[in-house]
Amino acid sequence: MHKELLEQVYNTSDFNTNGHSLIDQLTSHLENKLNDISRNAINWNEPEKELQFWKAFLSDGDSKDMFQEIIKRTTYVHHPHYMGHQVSPPAPITALTGLISALLNNGTAVYEMGMSSNAIERLVIETICNKIGYNNTSGGFLTSGGTLANLTALLSARKAITKRDIWNDGNQNQLGIMVSEEAHYCVDRAARIMGLGEHGIIKIPVTKEFSMNTDLLESKFKQAKDKGIEIFAIVGSAPSTATGIFDNLEVIGAFAKKHNIWFHADGAHGGAGVFSNKYKHTLKGIDQADSVVIDGHKMMMMPALTTALLYKEEINAKTTFSQKADYLLSDSEHEDWYNSGKRTFECTKNMMSIHWFTLLKLYGEEVFDANVTHLYDMGALFARLIEEEPNFELALKPMSNIVCFRYCPPSMSSENTNALNAKIRQLLLEDGEFYIVQTKLKDRFYMRITVMNPFTTEVHFRALINKIKAYISN
Ligand SMILES: Cc1ncc(COP(=O)(O)O)c(C=O)c1O
Repeated sequence: MHKELLEQVYNTSDFNTNGHSLIDQLTSHLENKLNDISRNAINWNEPEKELQFWKAFLSDGDSKDMFQEIIKRTTYVHHPHYMGHQVSPPAPITALTGLISALLNNGTAVYEMGMSSNAIERLVIETICNKIGYNNTSGGFLTSGGTLANLTALLSARKAITKRDIWNDGNQNQLGIMVSEEAHYCVDRAARIMGLGEHGIIKIPVTKEFSMNTDLLESKFKQAKDKGIEIFAIVGSAPSTATGIFDNLEVIGAFAKKHNIWFHADGAHGGAGVFSNKYKHTLKGIDQADSVVIDGHKMMMMPALTTALLYKEEINAKTTFSQKADYLLSDSEHEDWYNSGKRTFECTKNMMSIHWFTLLKLYGEEVFDANVTHLYDMGALFARLIEEEPNFELALKPMSNIVCFRYCPPSMSSENTNALNAKIRQLLLEDGEFYIVQTKLKDRFYMRITVMNPFTTEVHFRALINKIKAYISN
């Protein structure tokens, strides 16, 4: 009985039939979405209703419809009207590399369980390090997401800078990091996980342009020191999530050097700009960072999750975790770059390097330049269109593909303006033709777009603006 069931699970002919049918369904999904044939970027459903649907499906649904239902009931990142969160519409070929990874399931932590993926990862890391401007003492690895990568980088920083074996002995000192108040919340979370507590997270206010106010660095550092806080790292955002504004990495790098602390650049979103000839200036100074995070699943057309964590000095990647797992890793003195689990937080990870490698092999580095440059150009275009509209305003001039804007007639109170913009964004969500998000900056509510789809055009932008105007006039 059990044997029969298991044979059914591993039936290769079913795999082949289901696989071909799924590829057909996904191809028509892509054709419909990329070409803007279907109206909506999302078919919004209330969470409780969605839960009921899947409960009913589990008991009574026809399994033949299962994949189709899942596809239908998602947010369509390939639709040009998708301008929401910062996840890429993956290049279709990377869905196939995802399939390879899922089926072969080589966990990559040790060389024997990921020969190709470890070797490929090494080449991918070398390519990115070169782009950053690092020399041949640099290195790094791929890991599961920007959040985990930021935590890992801060653990490396603590190890390298404090010079104490906190990993084994625990920590008696109040440690701290410096970071912009606008940084992604995962940096705050990483610091708390590391036991720094609220006191250990020195938040640096932003300028009116929303980048870290680097004029305050010296005084904030001194204040912390006077309170007995040992600062070991400073984090620059490249860019910060809500606004898409870059911190001045050059100044932060010089400050870190002066005080002998670690400089970490969170380029989860914009680090891919190192590939853009036009926009690499946004990252000036990134080569001074001791560590850099770049998400493949944001600006680099790959499926979630795959993040590069790069180190100026590879030795720091190797020493972060001194914990031994002798049954997995040999104790050899020699260079063992091929056992990537020695450096990553996770043990098993998917064969994520093959997404990067396949794009590089098929299309060359230029593909990343093309994507980042085009999407940032489109962010600038959307901002210009907003500026032309009476009674609309930008939160600030965008530096990337993230644009925050709102409707704000001068006669309206700030409370009503906030409420109206929140209402518009909710109406857009429920209608589903466009998917955009929202953010609050200094108590002001803004609608926020991130242009993630290279096929979003001015026509789509104008249609979105017109739809918002129609809501306002009704
Ligand atoms: C600047 C920044 N850092 C970190 C993250 C978290 O990355 P992930 O979602 O890959 O964990 C994000 C996500 O939006 C981000 O924008």
